[in-house]
Amino acid sequence: MKLQSVDSAIARLINREAKRQKEVLEMIPSENYASAAVREAVGSVLTNKYSEGYPHKRYYQGNQFIDEIEDIAIARAKKLFGVPHVNVQPYSGSPANSAVYFALLNPGDTIMGLKLSGGGHLTHGQPSVTFSGKYFRSVQYDVTADGLIDLEAVAALAKKEKPAIIVVGTTAYPRIYDWKAWKNISDRVGALFLADISHIVGLIVGGVHPSPIPYADVVMTTTHKTLRGPRGAMLLVTNQGLKKDPQMGEKIDRAVFPGLQGGPHDNVTAGIAVALKEATTAAFRTYAKQIVTNAKVLAKTLTDEGFTLTTGGTDNHLMVVDLRPQKVIGNIAAEALEVAQIVVNRNSVPHDPNPPFYPSGIRLGTPAITTRGMKEKEMRQIGKWISQVIREVSHYRLPDAKEERGKYLAKVKKELSGNKNLHSIAKSVTILCKQFPVP
Ligand SMILES: Cc1ncc(COP(=O)(O)O)c(C=O)c1O
Repeated sequence: MKLQSVDSAIARLINREAKRQKEVLEMIPSENYASAAVREAVGSVLTNKYSEGYPHKRYYQGNQFIDEIEDIAIARAKKLFGVPHVNVQPYSGSPANSAVYFALLNPGDTIMGLKLSGGGHLTHGQPSVTFSGKYFRSVQYDVTADGLIDLEAVAALAKKEKPAIIVVGTTAYPRIYDWKAWKNISDRVGALFLADISHIVGLIVGGVHPSPIPYADVVMTTTHKTLRGPRGAMLLVTNQGLKKDPQMGEKIDRAVFPGLQGGPHDNVTAGIAVALKEATTAAFRTYAKQIVTNAKVLAKTLTDEGFTLTTGGTDNHLMVVDLRPQKVIGNIAAEALEVAQIVVNRNSVPHDPNPPFYPSGIRLGTPAITTRGMKEKEMRQIGKWISQVIREVSHYRLPDAKEERGKYLAKVKKELSGNKNLHSIAKSVTILCKQFPVP
């Protein structure tokens, strides 16, 4: 029986979400449109199977085809990234990072990662609220006031704190990493080097960004962002990693299963295999290049419109707009943009004076709109619309009194939902979106 007849409520909501995804400009940099082929694999009968363990070493019978699928996914990842060991079972990026710590560190060892407000991820040692910050000692490096990572300051901090692992890779950093410099910093203090390339993996395999594989010990990537696969993650152990510890691959595997997870999501493993095949095509390389071209054109348009971008621009797929000069908070800008059918997320800016719940910026990216085939011309138009939207709402001021903020934002939201100028932009967005179908 089809979903519609079994559960019309869920069917209706899925259809509405599909319509939303078609009609808006999805500009959250961590999102993308997976291909119909990837989605077919994820929605397949593979969801029915249990296969605890690894290929040819399972705890359950009936895994002959699952073994082949996982073998293919691993072989494709090894070839694409040029690494000797791959684990494709992590459920997502956060458990994958946890597996690295669980495999290679002892509780209480020091993790050194980038602060959240500088563009780091929660699992890179965010103190107190996360596994990585609670069960390990966390030392965090930061970016400069411009938003740039200062490698000399990082090296000095590493020398002082002697971390067991240095985590490099971000969720909101728009610049290229000097992987060799990070290896030197790690080597000098005897730290392991984990590269988290979740955001930029598509740019790396598409040949437009340098790869950390020759320098890092372990590489973690999610599979659902610029790689355009299903929601999941992979752990790659490099030759450097194996040189440091020949057991590193087995330790990582044991940390994923049985250390932290049970049975792998075989439907997702198949989807990852499909995405890895797609990523080897010339079309994917063209796509990766266009993501960056689009981001640069969008960044220039926004700068020309008078906006301040952290680090002054972008080299990758994303940018963070610092809205302090406009005196509007990220929440209101993001809300107004959504009314105009431009979907972004609010984001902290470097050294943000505001708390993460009311941050001073927005983060936007080009991976999903590039998948739709949009190019430079569309980026200029989108940049102008973003500028118009933010100007429309820049008179709104967050109250100083904390207890008034929730009520104020609810009132602003209501006003924005009826704002004619925002609805007029939304109409133009709909027309543009119709010309660029989603996969
Ligand atoms: C750099 C980085 N690492 C890890 C993660 C965690 O991935 P997930 O949300 O799949 O747990 C993210 C997700 O935003 C990320 O950007």
